[in-house]
Amino acid sequence: MKKKVCVIGAGVIGLSTAVCIQDRVPSAAVTLIAETFSPNTTSDGSAGFWEPFYPSPIQKDLYRKWGEETFNHLKRVAHSTEGGANGVHFVSGYLMSRNENSPKDPQWKKDLVIGYRKLTEQDMELHPQYKEGAFYTTIIADQTPYLSWLFRRFRGKGGKVVSLKVNSLMEVTGTYDVVVNCTGLGAREAKSVTLGGSGHVNSWDLNVIKEDKERIFHNCCKLIPSLKNAKILYDWVGLRPARSEVRLELDDRNFQKCKVIHNYGHGGSGVTLHWGCALDAANLVHKALFTPSIKSKL
Ligand SMILES: Cc1cc2nc3c(=O)[nH]c(=O)nc-3n(C[C@H](O)[C@H](O)[C@H](O)COP(=O)(O)OP(=O)(O)OC[C@H]3O[C@@H](n4cnc5c(N)ncnc54)[C@H](O)[C@@H]3O)c2cc1C
Ligand SMILES: *[C@@H]1O[C@H](CO)[C@@H](O)[C@H](O)[C@H]1NC(C)=O
Ligand SMILES: *[C@@H]1O[C@H](CO)[C@@H](O)[C@H](O)[C@H]1NC(C)=O
Repeated sequence: MKKKVCVIGAGVIGLSTAVCIQDRVPSAAVTLIAETFSPNTTSDGSAGFWEPFYPSPIQKDLYRKWGEETFNHLKRVAHSTEGGANGVHFVSGYLMSRNENSPKDPQWKKDLVIGYRKLTEQDMELHPQYKEGAFYTTIIADQTPYLSWLFRRFRGKGGKVVSLKVNSLMEVTGTYDVVVNCTGLGAREAKSVTLGGSGHVNSWDLNVIKEDKERIFHNCCKLIPSLKNAKILYDWVGLRPARSEVRLELDDRNFQKCKVIHNYGHGGSGVTLHWGCALDAANLVHKALFTPSIKSKL
């Protein structure tokens, strides 16, 4: 009988995981279950940059591996015949900070992005309010077209889709051989051009903070003065599903015959890490299906 695999979550993590499972275990029947779908996921609200955001110091080597696999994947997608339609393209720009104490770019990021260079005095003359920074080319994966591309790919390979809020994993562990938990954190309504954002660690406040809003708008207008005339459509507060680290492992608790794998907690770097994590999650699914009684962790 066909092995049955279920992925819960249709953000960038769940969709990429579902697609990678189809590639890794072509014989399995894969079902995607989610409460919200694009354009209504947190992923849709993301800026979509390949840009490690506060990379976890605990998972340094894993972040590098996942980040590199994702960058290379996105590069291939941008260069593919479908490039453009799937929202993935190269983008060049400044990353600047106001003080010398802001987090330093890890070496692996500098090596991966294209043409990374520290800013010169000439650059700084353009942006006198900043202390230091870098200029480089990275990749942006506009989430709504990218998720829709992943979704079509998933459906094209026979993937099933179910719209459902799962309150307890027990609701699904009876039906599937493996369940992958890619529920990220929360959801949002869609969408438009974004100015932002802020980064308050441990803040769960979903209200707009007036000072943040004013600071963001003011700073963006300083960079691009013509924004002053723009109409503000709405304010949005999102939570980056951050833990101290990504949880990507086989759950060693007993769910009867079902195996549970987690792939969540990507914080502010879900887009940056998604493909590398999806490849690892798919490998764990393969192991869970075909290795008797494994107890290993990633
Ligand atoms: C303002 C902002 C800007 C960002 N910019 C970037 C960026 O430039 N680059 C970058 O790499 N990262 C960025 N991020 C982070 C990135 O958006 C996240 O890391 C990423 O979207 C997480 O994806 P996810 O699939 O885990 O979660 P989500 O997109 O939240 O998807 C979760 C899915 O799980 C489903 N779900 C949850 N609970 C249940 C349940 N009980 N039953 C059924 N389904 C359920 C939801 O319905 C949804 O489909 C940004 C984040 C924010 C807030
Ligand atoms: C997204 O949310 C809007 C507003 O609630 C809803 O009308 C729409 O059907 C949702 N889209 C999807 C794909 O679920
Ligand atoms: C599934 O993931 C969520 C994070 O999105 C986590 O809070 C929850 O505990 C996980 N479920 C189980 C059964 O571990």
